[in-house]
Amino acid sequence: MEMSRPKVLSTHALFPAARAILDAQCEVEYWTAPERIPRAELLQRVASKDALVCLLTEKIDDELLAAGPGLRIVANVAVGYDNINVPACTVRLVVATNTPGGLDETTADFAWTLLMAIARRLLEGDQLARSGQWAGWGLDQLCGADVWGKTLGLVGLGRIGRAVARRAMGFRMRVIYNDAIRAPEEAERDLHVEFVDRDTLFAQSDFISLHVPLLPDTRHLISAERLAKMKPTACLINTSRGPVVDEAALAEALQKGRIAGAALDVYEQEPKIHPGLPGLKNVILAPHIASASLETRTKMACMAAENVVAKLSGRRPANALNPEVLA
Ligand SMILES: NC(=O)c1ccc[n+]([C@@H]2O[C@H](COP(=O)([O-])OP(=O)(O)OC[C@H]3O[C@@H](n4cnc5c(N)ncnc54)[C@H](O)[C@@H]3O)[C@@H](O)[C@H]2O)c1
Repeated sequence: MEMSRPKVLSTHALFPAARAILDAQCEVEYWTAPERIPRAELLQRVASKDALVCLLTEKIDDELLAAGPGLRIVANVAVGYDNINVPACTVRLVVATNTPGGLDETTADFAWTLLMAIARRLLEGDQLARSGQWAGWGLDQLCGADVWGKTLGLVGLGRIGRAVARRAMGFRMRVIYNDAIRAPEEAERDLHVEFVDRDTLFAQSDFISLHVPLLPDTRHLISAERLAKMKPTACLINTSRGPVVDEAALAEALQKGRIAGAALDVYEQEPKIHPGLPGLKNVILAPHIASASLETRTKMACMAAENVVAKLSGRRPANALNPEVLA
């Protein structure tokens, strides 16, 4: 007689490659509706499950864990895990996992896309070109700022911050960074980066790109006070998490011309965007797509699926956030 297979809830249909990994070992219920799974539905469906594959749009808190008393693993399809209460998982001996490393280059590509686009006024140019109002080449038309040779300030030199630093080498930029933990000398040398304190970073950078996780420490790290320390010609790029920036303070700084521009992928209260931002020309707004290449999103879903299968078959998931649960 066939043994009963472990039960998994996935809050998304995922990609075929990830489904294949899960379906081979488990009985999986996929939420396939185009809208996000309603909270009540999630709480109800998780009741009889051994594992949950979730997205950053789902809050994994004590209420959810209580609703799924059989859960042994919660596998986030994201590297950032500020949506998961990890200590609450640990108390209930539930392993929480994320997808580190799989999206570094893709996310860095996108941070670079935003940086180039804001510096060179790409969106304004696109609008002009397609408006029917373009009168032809102009000597002083849509002059932006150079990227090459400028100073790039990285807040957070982890996996993604380093991938961004590597890209800056080709642009002959000076790269300065601040991180809670200074990188080893060898890494600094290889990446051509210089450690500076936060004030120096804000005062000297032409472009500031954020690559820290959302933590109590990093919430509103970009405050009115810090924005005031930036050069009036500088641009801010955020592909980390929305609440790292005080969005109201940023909107005000942009409106008043205290900084030159901002290019954002993430927002404080997604999908809401501060009403002061969309009307501004010196802002680029992306809908949280920094890791959204088909290859990378597929890889992330597969990493989550592998974490689930490993845990449910008694192996160690590769990306445990609370490995003490596995001891
Ligand atoms: N927009 C997107 O789609 C997208 C995609 C991937 C990752 N992210 C976000 O990017 C974040 C970074 O990802 P990663 O894989 O590079 O993480 P990582 O853990 O490799 O790097 C984070 C770095 O931030 C540093 N740090 C932590 N607290 C700090 C503080 N208070 N001040 C300065 N530095 C601090 C850490 O020491 C570490 O070096 C993720 O946590 C996630 O929230 C967003």
